[in-house]
Formats: sequence, structure tokens, C-alpha cells
Amino acid sequence: MTIINNVSLKPFNTFGIATNAQSYCDIGSIDELSTVLKTYHSKPLFILGGGSNMLLTKDIEALVLHINLKGIEVVSETENTVIVKAMAGENWHNFVLWCLKHNYGGIENLSLIPGNIGTAPIQNIGAYGVELKDVFVSCEALKIEDQSLQKFSKSDCNFGYRESIFKQDVKGQYIITSVNIELSKANHKLHMDYGVIRSELEVNAIKEPTIQDISNAVISIRQSKLPDPKVIGNSGSFFKNPIISAKEFVELERNFPNVPSYKISDEAIKIPAGWLIEQAGFKGKRFKDYGVHNKQALVLVNYGNATGNEILNLAQLIQSTINRLFNINIEMEVNII
Ligand code: EPU
Repeated sequence: MTIINNVSLKPFNTFGIATNAQSYCDIGSIDELSTVLKTYHSKPLFILGGGSNMLLTKDIEALVLHINLKGIEVVSETENTVIVKAMAGENWHNFVLWCLKHNYGGIENLSLIPGNIGTAPIQNIGAYGVELKDVFVSCEALKIEDQSLQKFSKSDCNFGYRESIFKQDVKGQYIITSVNIELSKANHKLHMDYGVIRSELEVNAIKEPTIQDISNAVISIRQSKLPDPKVIGNSGSFFKNPIISAKEFVELERNFPNVPSYKISDEAIKIPAGWLIEQAGFKGKRFKDYGVHNKQALVLVNYGNATGNEILNLAQLIQSTINRLFNINIEMEVNII
């Protein structure tokens, strides 16, 4: 365990933004984490996982702790289900592949989501009709202040759409070290409510899909719309899909009869922010080395040497334009640092 000064964070964030950390420490075990925290818990700290949901707009004047805890193990099983514990530094998609290899079902719809296990609960990652909360059992987290290891059950986590207690009440107080997930071993319940999944399976003439087929379909859909962060820097959806009231929706639909929508309840309607951004004319727009992805308007991209502030300014311009045109506020999903 070594603390290094002045480290470039470019390789550690999927946006590929080149800012520096004042100091940096790679953490390979819970013991190492406790030891570092004993000395530094009251100093400025910055917890880094997969770096897939952040936009760096400045140097980090703190000690960056890069959580690289590794390991995947079955902790209990019944005839039909299994509980798997994965350490925080495991790459999420590699974990999905491990589960598929063992024929454990439940997270195949979450294939190819960037980021690590430890950050998945923070924003309750979700895609194609499945959210982490659907399979989540509990997680362990180290309290920064006193280094006690605490367990958070599913209800403790207060999960919502891209939300959890780790973004709200206990923000900045804990470091998630592992997550326990419950999966099926047989009679997998497939989630194919998303039309695109069904059509992808049809294109490949798959009539009785397996969890591997669903994963392949999701991978192919994601690859067709979302830029690969290894090629073009990005953080996935930059904004959350806004939820508006039924009354606001009536007004919106009167002005824009083609607006797509998902009913959440009688009172709440979700509108795809990607549609709003596309209507506002931003889709595919490029400015210098940054812009809006040409296949999914919800994704802002760094073509190489963009700065975090250039991307942030674009995001703010998109927000104010959407507000002016549609009278809707869209919230950023990505953490602005
Ligand atoms: N749309 C457009 N133009 C666009 C993009 C989307 O008009 O450029 C409209 C279309 O009507 C489309 C609808 O938006 O049918 C929904 O698009 P999509 O299925 O691509 O999903 P999304 O609502 O844009 C959300 C998640 C994604 C997740 C997909 C699939 C959020 C903020 N984003 O996007 O998550 O992969 O659903 O479930 O909820 C991520 O969080 O990084 C992410 C990629």
C-alpha cells in the first residue's frame, strides 16, 4: 500500500478527463482500507470506484482511495437460488459474465453497464426493465469515521430510480466493500418487457431464450446506441429521465403530440430526456472535442481532450434549453466533481 503524489486521473474515469489527484492510493484489502482510514479519516478523501459516473471539472485536492477489493464467492444456496457476494472492486460486467457462466440468472439485463460492484448500489444501476434493487440482498460498508464494518439491508438502502441512501442521508460517510446478490439457479424469470429486447431476439430467430441470449441481446442493443468508453469518453446517461405530474403531461402532450412517455402512477409520468434533448436539436452536435452522442442524446461525449468544464457548460446549456422549450427540469445523473 503506497501513497503516490500528483497522479493523473485520466485512466481512472470513463469520460477520460485529464485532471490530477493530489495523492492516490490503490486499496487491495479491507485491512489496507482500515489502516489508511485510521490515519486519514478526518483529511479530505475522495473514493474512486470504476470512475464511470463522474465528470471531473478540477484537480482533486484530496487523497484518492481507489477501491480495488477483489473476489466473488457463493455464500449460500438453496435448490433454486443462490446468494453471491462480490467485492467492491470487481468490474460489474465481468461479474455478470461470471454469473452467466454459472447459469445464475437475474442480472443478464444489466450486461455491459460500466463501473464496479461497489458503486452499483449508490445509484441503483438499471437498464432494460431491471434494477440492482431487484436482486440486491445487502451490502457491507466501512464507516469512514470509525472504520466499523456495517451491513445495509435492502430496505436500509432506500432504493429509488437512480437513487439510494448513499446519495442521500449517509452521502460521503461510508465506503461500500462488498455486495450480496440473490440470483436464480433454475426456472429463470426472464425480463423481456422492453420491445427492443424482443425484436433483437426475433432478428436472431431465438424462440426460447436463455439468460445468455438475453445478455447477448442487451449487449448488442447497447453496442448499437451507446459509445464504448474505451473508444469515446462518456459516462452513460448524463441526465435522469424527468418525472412530471399528470397535469403537466396533459399540457406537454397538447404541444408535442408525439412525446414518448412511461406511466409510473396515475400522478407521475416519466419522459425520456433523450427525446427532449433530440427535439431541442442537440443530438449528434459536436463542439471542439466534446458533444452529444449521435445515437443516444442522453449521452455526452469526450472525443479526446475535452475539459470537464466544457462538458459541464454544455450540460447546463441543454438543461436551460429544455426548460425554456418544454418547461421541464432535467437533473444530471452524473456526479460533478
Ligand atoms: N429517445 C430519443 N432520442 C434519443 C434517445 C432516446 O427520442 O436520442 C427516446 C425514444 O423514444 C426511445 C426512448 O427515448 O424510445 C427511450 O430510449 P432508451 O430505451 O434508449 O432509454 P433511455 O430512457 O434513453 C434509460 C437509461 C439507460 C438504460 C436504458 C435502457 C436513464 C437515465 N437511462 O435510457 O441507462 O440503458 O433506459 O433501459 O434512465 C445509464 O444510466 O447510463 C444508461 C445508459
